[in-house]
Amino acid sequence: MPDSTASAGPLDGHRPDGVSGAAIDLVGVTKSYPGQGGAAVDRISLQIPAGEIVMLVGPSGCGKTTTLKMINRLIEPTSGTITIDGRDVLSLDGDELRRQIGYVIQAGGLFPHMSVATNVGIVPGMLRWEKKRIAERTDELLELVGLDPAKYRDRYPGELSGGQQQRVGVARALAADPPVLLMDEPFGAVDPITRQRLQDELLRIQDELRKTIVCVTHDFDEAVKLGDRIVVLGEGARVVQYDTPAQVLAHPADPFVEDFVGSGAALKALTLTRVGELEALQETTTARVGDAVADVVARARAVGDAAAVVLDDRGRPQRWPWLRQLQAEGDVVLDRVEDVLSVDRRATLNAALDAMLGSRYGGVVVTGKNDVYEGVLFLQTAIDAVATTRGGSGDDGPVPVAGNDEDAARALAGEGAS
Ligand SMILES: Nc1ncnc2c1ncn2[C@@H]1O[C@H](COP(=O)(O)OP(=O)(O)OP(=O)(O)O)[C@@H](O)[C@H]1O
Ligand SMILES: [Mg+2]
Repeated sequence: MPDSTASAGPLDGHRPDGVSGAAIDLVGVTKSYPGQGGAAVDRISLQIPAGEIVMLVGPSGCGKTTTLKMINRLIEPTSGTITIDGRDVLSLDGDELRRQIGYVIQAGGLFPHMSVATNVGIVPGMLRWEKKRIAERTDELLELVGLDPAKYRDRYPGELSGGQQQRVGVARALAADPPVLLMDEPFGAVDPITRQRLQDELLRIQDELRKTIVCVTHDFDEAVKLGDRIVVLGEGARVVQYDTPAQVLAHPADPFVEDFVGSGAALKALTLTRVGELEALQETTTARVGDAVADVVARARAVGDAAAVVLDDRGRPQRWPWLRQLQAEGDVVLDRVEDVLSVDRRATLNAALDAMLGSRYGGVVVTGKNDVYEGVLFLQTAIDAVATTRGGSGDDGPVPVAGNDEDAARALAGEGAS
C-alpha cells in the first residue's frame, strides 16, 4: 500500500525542494474540429516549469480553454504530445489522469445538490480514501481557503456567496493534493473586491504549496498579478509572447500584445514589486511608552528625523507623531487614537504608494510578521526603486520554450535542450 499521505499515482510530482508541482510540456499540440476553417489550437508548443503559475491570456475564441482542457484530456488533442513530469498523458487513462489534476472553473463548478464537504471530498472518495481521512482533509482544505469548516461544511452551494463558492472550488481541486492545477477564468464571476481577495489567497496558498498552475484569464491585470509567466495567445492559440509579467509590460512583443497590455504599463508594473523586496526600507526613530520624551527627541534630531514611530509593547506601530507633538504631550503615550499608515512587507508597491499618497509624511510604516515594525518607506525612495527595477532584467531563471513552429517543438522534444 502506498503511504496514505502521498498522492501516489502516475503523476506523483512531489520533490524535496518544496515544489510539489510537475513540469508540463506541450509539443506541437493541435485541436481541429471538423468543418471549421483553421484549427482551434494550431501546433502549440509550451514548456511550463514545475511550481510556477502560468497565465494564458488572449482574445475570446483564441483557444485558451481548448488548450487547458487538452492537458487533462477533457478535450482529446488531434495531434501532438503532452507530458507531465515526462509522462505522456495520452497514454494514461483519462479518468485516472483527471483525478491527479485539479480543475477549477468559474463559480467553482460545484454540484448544487451536494454539500460543501461532499463536493470537496469527491476525488478522495473516488480514490477510496477512508471516511475519516476524507473528513479531516476536507476540514483542512476549507481552513486553507479561509472558510470555517464548522460553519460551512454542511451547507449547499446555493447557500454560499460567489466568492465562497469559488473558494470551495479551489479546495475541491486541491483535495487529493494534485501536482497540477488548471483554472479557467476562476475569478471571472465575482465582484472586483472579492476577486482581489481571492487572488491574494491563491498567492498565499501557492506560496505554501508550490503547485504547477495553468490559469486562463481575460483580465491582463490578473495575469500580471498572479503569473510567474504570461502566455499571450492569438488566434489558433498562436503563442505571441511567453515571458515574465515584467518583460511583457516592459517589452511587449508586437502591437497586438501592446494593445492587450493596454495603457498604464508602468503603473501595472507596480503590482509586480512587493514592499519587502525593495532595498529602500529606511530606519526611523522609534519610541515606546515610558521612554523619556527628551531622549526620543535627542535621538531623532541626531539622525535628522522630525517624527518618531511609537510602538506598543509587542513592537507594533501605533502612532507616528511629530517631535513637537510628543514634546507637547510630555510623555510617550499610546492612548491617542491615530490611524498610523502602515503596510505589510508583502503588500504590492501599488498599495504602498496608495497609502503614501494619504500620508502627511509622504511615507508609510512597513510591518512584518505579527504586524511588528520593520522600517519606513518614503515616496522618493519608492520611485527610485521602481526606476532601478525597470532598468534591470532581473533573474528569472532559464527561459522556457514556447511557439507554434517546428523549432519550438524540436527544442521541447529535447533536441538541443537538456
Ligand atoms: N466543440 C466545438 N466544436 C467546434 N468548434 C469549437 C468547439 N469548441 C470550441 N470551438 C472553437 O474553438 C475555438 C477556441 O475555443 P475556446 O473555447 O478554446 O476559446 P477561448 O479562448 O477559451 O475563448 P473565451 O475567452 O471566449 O472563453 C473557438 O473558435 C471555438 O468556436
Ligand atoms: Mg474559454
